[in-house]
Amino acid sequence: MKIGVIGASGFIGKAFCKQAQENGHEVIGYSRSQKDASDGIEWRVFDKSPNLDGLDAIVNYAGESVAQRWTEAKKVQFHKSRVGVTEIIVNQIKEMPADKRPKVLVNSSAVGYYGDCADTKLDEGSPLGPGYLAELCQKWEQAAYEAEALGVRVAIGRIGIVIGEGGAAWEQMKTAFKLGAGGNLSTGKQWMPWVHVDDVAGASLYACETESIKGAVNFVSPEPCRNSEFTQVLAKSLNRPAFIPAPKFALKLLFGEFGTHLLDSYRVYPAVLEREGYNFQHPKLKESLAKMA
Ligand SMILES: NC(=O)c1ccc[n+]([C@@H]2O[C@H](COP(=O)([O-])OP(=O)(O)OC[C@H]3O[C@@H](n4cnc5c(N)ncnc54)[C@H](OP(=O)(O)O)[C@@H]3O)[C@@H](O)[C@H]2O)c1
Repeated sequence: MKIGVIGASGFIGKAFCKQAQENGHEVIGYSRSQKDASDGIEWRVFDKSPNLDGLDAIVNYAGESVAQRWTEAKKVQFHKSRVGVTEIIVNQIKEMPADKRPKVLVNSSAVGYYGDCADTKLDEGSPLGPGYLAELCQKWEQAAYEAEALGVRVAIGRIGIVIGEGGAAWEQMKTAFKLGAGGNLSTGKQWMPWVHVDDVAGASLYACETESIKGAVNFVSPEPCRNSEFTQVLAKSLNRPAFIPAPKFALKLLFGEFGTHLLDSYRVYPAVLEREGYNFQHPKLKESLAKMA
């Protein structure tokens, strides 16, 4: 397939491009900035009317990181870079003759769709939750589903907490633990839907290749764990202590509204990926963290 990757310059986008190429696909990367061809990737500019000609599939990873203080101006960026970018893609597809359109759009979303659900087990059939992130994900997903009316198969990757070399979340955790400043986030009781970046890339590729996959697909590992378990396994893999918990008030002080979302509990399972026979590259927490430590 010839696959167009929006957000190809990002953490997940880079991992996807590598895996897609290793699996014999041709990759076209899209970025807001002009880039020279590198690593076998042809780059096109992502603007208000990007050139999507000749693609069999589109994978969209665009999105300004929400792991920062949320100001009103930032919220505009969160929306524009997710809902706005998805609308641009779908509008561009609409302009194409029906027989020239891509066959599939794999669009990102996040487990934030479900809202804070304590210990409730969640799969793709679980309802939309409350809160800002859930609302943002719903609008993001709705924008992508508009492509179905254009004859495009749409799969929505509800991505969990992505770990992997070079990822912001992982590098920050690793640094804190290496400095001896690691510990639970608050009580550590909340569920963490972790997933390795190779599996976000692998599941996205699987969704491109597998015609029976459509609708919401949780991109999370088959073994979610509580934050306290993640903390213990991480500390052991790095051979460092983990006794400095980050209290709720400090997270709120540091990150504002996002600080409270850091403690949301998402016990999410990849029901669709398992049903469709996807083989996880990193299904186990202990082994995954040990490899990266
Ligand atoms: N990492 C996680 O733990 C996680 C968890 C859940 C969901 N997700 C979602 O997965 C997606 C990828 O995450 P990531 O960690 O790879 O993020 P990242 O490293 O920050 O990369 C984001 C990409 O989005 C592009 N982008 C940002 N704003 C854009 C805009 N206004 N228009 C077009 N492109 C824009 C950037 O491309 P250019 O700067 O080159 O244009 C960049 O390559 C995001 O949508 C994110 O919300 C990530």
